[in-house]
Amino acid sequence: MNIRLVKGMGLLWSSLFLLPSSWAATASISIAQLYQGSFLVGTAIKSSDLKKPPSLSSSLSCREFNAFTAENAMKWEHIHPTPDTYDFSMSDQLITMAQQCDAKVIGHTLVWHQQTPDWVFQDSQGNALSRDALLVRLKDHIDTVVGRYKGKVYGWDVVNEALNEDGTLRDTPWRNIIGDDYFIYAYRYARAADPDAQLYYNDFNLYKKAKVEGAITLVNQLLEAGEKVDAIGMQGHYSLFYPSLNEIEQSVQAIVNAGLSIAVTELDVSVLPLPDDAFSGADITQSFAAHPVYDPYTSRLPEAQEQQLAETYQGLFALFLKYADNVDRITFWGASDADSWRNNWPIRGRTDYPLLFDRQGRPKLAYQYVTQFIP
Ligand code: XIL
Repeated sequence: MNIRLVKGMGLLWSSLFLLPSSWAATASISIAQLYQGSFLVGTAIKSSDLKKPPSLSSSLSCREFNAFTAENAMKWEHIHPTPDTYDFSMSDQLITMAQQCDAKVIGHTLVWHQQTPDWVFQDSQGNALSRDALLVRLKDHIDTVVGRYKGKVYGWDVVNEALNEDGTLRDTPWRNIIGDDYFIYAYRYARAADPDAQLYYNDFNLYKKAKVEGAITLVNQLLEAGEKVDAIGMQGHYSLFYPSLNEIEQSVQAIVNAGLSIAVTELDVSVLPLPDDAFSGADITQSFAAHPVYDPYTSRLPEAQEQQLAETYQGLFALFLKYADNVDRITFWGASDADSWRNNWPIRGRTDYPLLFDRQGRPKLAYQYVTQFIP
């Protein structure tokens, strides 16, 4: 299904001239099929879809996308909640769902400082673990999780968000206890557990020059140490107000020039006002007080913003197509607006419209723009 038949979209765009204007709502061809010659098009699958029989959103995911990332189910706190307990119920369900839908599975994520229980970094008395003990624990986790899904997970976000905004290494318990080389061990263990799985370094705000340079340096250190890294994951939690396409393109070019591949791993475009002018990124611990001024579209998205969102997505897809030889995948962080974490972050309880499908699962103008119009 995912064979790269056509790199570059000349054929696709010319064939689209033949399609009626209303085709997007009714067509049997999905966005993933449309881009099949260029890159995978994926979505995050929320945990509630992995706990019950298929729902509207899981059937939408199945119909439209060919790569699934667990939004939360494979994070340490869910898959390995206590030292002696692994819980594979949701992650096994993700594998089954992906097999039924002929989609690839992306494993998210093995090493992160968020959504990781405190016990991971402590001994049974609650004291900080030694470097050696934490490395043993990390290896056990990676062996168990990656080993279980050997041959079934297409690629892993091995380390997530290890960098500060200036490109230096972030202080996390992983770094503080193991040292600066912790990520080398993580990639070594992951490769040993499934030599054929792709391995990614994943982070947000990689449109910033200093941060993308930090990511490239980190990946080069891994490659020099003899480890395997297949792509840099640019999360892509964007907004109508930032970043500019030019900023993203500069970063894409920097990654391509370094000889590396790109996966856009968590794409969404918030339409809501920013909580402050300097706001950007995807730090999940950030939280701002709710106020109606920051939640202006509770009943519907006005046409002007709908149009702006569509044009933003069209620009993003045109850019990714331009670099399709180096872009392996575009994954949205959810299928419909009802699913999106952006409704609750960085301000809880808002009504955001960041994805291609509306709250009823119907394709939005943005869907038409990325599937129908010539950039
Ligand atoms: C988010 C999920 O979408 C939320 O449901 C959860 O409460 C917090 O995490 N960067 C990542 C993702 O790598 O795992 C985060 O997902 C969003 C930011």
